[in-house]
Amino acid sequence: MVIKMKLQWITNSEQETKQLAGRIGQLAQAGDVLLLEGDLGAGKTTFTKGLAEGLGIDRTVNSPTFTIIKEYIGRIPLYHMDVYRVQDEFEDLGFDEYFHGPGITVVEWAHLIQEQLPKEYALIKITREDDQQRKIVYEAFGERYEQLGKELNNHEDISH
Ligand SMILES: Nc1ncnc2c1ncn2[C@@H]1O[C@H](COP(=O)(O)OP(=O)(O)OP(=O)(O)O)[C@@H](O)[C@H]1O
Ligand SMILES: [Mg+2]
Repeated sequence: MVIKMKLQWITNSEQETKQLAGRIGQLAQAGDVLLLEGDLGAGKTTFTKGLAEGLGIDRTVNSPTFTIIKEYIGRIPLYHMDVYRVQDEFEDLGFDEYFHGPGITVVEWAHLIQEQLPKEYALIKITREDDQQRKIVYEAFGERYEQLGKELNNHEDISH
């Protein structure tokens, strides 16, 4: 699929990354799928924490590395997956039910389950620029995610 939209931000603290993600949490709708990519310690879980706050989730979001999937109750449910420890990309842990469920799915290390991903999603890549600085790139794969990107850009924000 052709990428029709690419947005980019620079954040200079954990707080700024959470704020940006929080706006996505406010705008997200049931059925949205957000794939998070980035090296160890890039900020994928930090981003998810901010997104959860935007969804009105009070519980602390922790890395689900050992459980792989955690579910949180907010304005709409959040399904937080970290598939770093999935053995092979075909190992089926019921991902599809989450992708099509009545919540928002966030997947850390999504490419490790490439074969099981839905066709449409937003791909969010986080790169560590230095200790406090991150580059965050948002790519829309599908109309819904172009719409979400437009709404994100319409907000007063910290984008550059
Ligand atoms: N601008 C920033 N945005 C996000 N995190 C930042 C930023 N600056 C510093 N950090 C720090 O970077 C770390 C990011 O860790 P985090 O657990 O979110 O990464 P991760 O991508 O989920 O790693 P893993 O692959 O191990 O799951 C945190 O300690 C956070 O405080
Ligand atoms: Mg993480």
